[in-house]
Amino acid sequence: MTTAKGSALELGDIQAAALEPRPTPYAGSYLALRIDERGQGRELLRRLTPALDSVATFDPRRQVSLAVALSFQGLRALGVPEESLATFPEEFQEGMAARAAELGDLGDSAPENWEGPLGSEDVHVVLAALAPDDARLETIVLLVRDALRDLPGVVPVWQQDVHVGPDEKEPFGFRDGIGQPAIEGTGIPGTNPREVPVKAGEFVLGYEDETGDVAPVPQPEALGRNGTYVVFRKLHTRVADFRRYIHERAADRAEEELIAAKFIGRWPSGAPLALTPDKDDPELGADPERNNDFLYGDDPQGLKCPVGAHARRMNPRDAVVTGEVCLHRMIRRGTTYGPPLPPGVLEDDGADRGIMFAFVGAHLARQFEFVQRQWVNDGKFIGAPDEKDPLVGGNDDGRFTMPRRPIRRRFKGLPPFVVNRGGEYCFLPGLSALRWIADLDT
Ligand code: HEM
Repeated sequence: MTTAKGSALELGDIQAAALEPRPTPYAGSYLALRIDERGQGRELLRRLTPALDSVATFDPRRQVSLAVALSFQGLRALGVPEESLATFPEEFQEGMAARAAELGDLGDSAPENWEGPLGSEDVHVVLAALAPDDARLETIVLLVRDALRDLPGVVPVWQQDVHVGPDEKEPFGFRDGIGQPAIEGTGIPGTNPREVPVKAGEFVLGYEDETGDVAPVPQPEALGRNGTYVVFRKLHTRVADFRRYIHERAADRAEEELIAAKFIGRWPSGAPLALTPDKDDPELGADPERNNDFLYGDDPQGLKCPVGAHARRMNPRDAVVTGEVCLHRMIRRGTTYGPPLPPGVLEDDGADRGIMFAFVGAHLARQFEFVQRQWVNDGKFIGAPDEKDPLVGGNDDGRFTMPRRPIRRRFKGLPPFVVNRGGEYCFLPGLSALRWIADLDT
């Protein structure tokens, strides 16, 4: 296999779950495993790999997928030689908990408050199963159960089920999963016709990226090529706090809806403020041809969509220096968990609800960590150094500016609406790499 610049993507070797869009609606499950016995861990990979789809074999009508991801500790538990482990990027070797300061995981989001065993050395394999409904999910669950049979040395240590209805609403009540980058050479259509497809090396190891180089591939090539990184974070949402904060500052229901939309950058239907700044437009929100067809360049002050709104921060499009944004794009495979808080309820009911955030990209530091540090938890890039992301930033007495005429409105005292309950950095190997690991004799 070649790593020559610009070489065609080996779609038959890349795990489908890395690049293929997820179904809507969906039912899914994340399962974390600890490997106590190396040989049995390899046997699990041997059993699972033939059942995994590649991007080339993925059936868009069935839309069933299983991803097999491995943490740094997992690669070690499987016996990947130390000289190979040393070729993975430092942040991956350290793992998510050790990067807490970098990621702004402080206070309630700090690793000491995470859900066990997340953040410990016990999360080795993460399996992520997704299907359009419970019945089809069950086929993957049975497959995994079968693969785990008679392997007592591979121990399930954590599980999170996820689901979403046809409106694809996340717990705060907004349609999610709309904005995704288009990726050169995959044949998978992007969602924004105005954005140039991003080079494949931004998302898959072994190919040219937006800098014109090929990012360091973990060695040997048989292990690293066609792999990518996945970041899992269980993000608990404080929906009642969010609603109450806005309710207390709005004159009526219509203003509540407007302020909430200004925080997000889209209306509940998914319609972008950039295209419909004054009121929701459910038809636009539901139309995949139009709901992501916009830029921000005609709205430099953020009068339509505030420059600090969550979605605009996370993808400023043409509103920051051209060429810069494509270095920090990410594929999002986030999924929703927990029961929705009924409409209008302003008191917390104690239920755990949120998003299993999942990032996919070839550059942990330049993509996920950069975005988390600079775009989520800082505001210098939008000229508001004292502001963080109003929705997902690690706010404590946070601020948010809503530009409007004649004078802007400033919000103060923002509490954290999202709390990290734990997560891990994982590597999503190519299919031949999974076979390579399974065949190790160390
Ligand atoms: C509980 C946590 C979160 C919630 C409820 C949430 C919700 C949303 C919603 C409603 C949208 C707009 C729909 C869309 O464009 O797909 C969105 C967009 C987005 N979010 Fe989040 N999000 C969360 C966490 C995060 C985090 C932690 C990151 C990155 C570190 C992130 C990155 C993005 C990106 C990249 C977009 C797409 C922007 C675009 O392309 O226009 N989100 N999010």
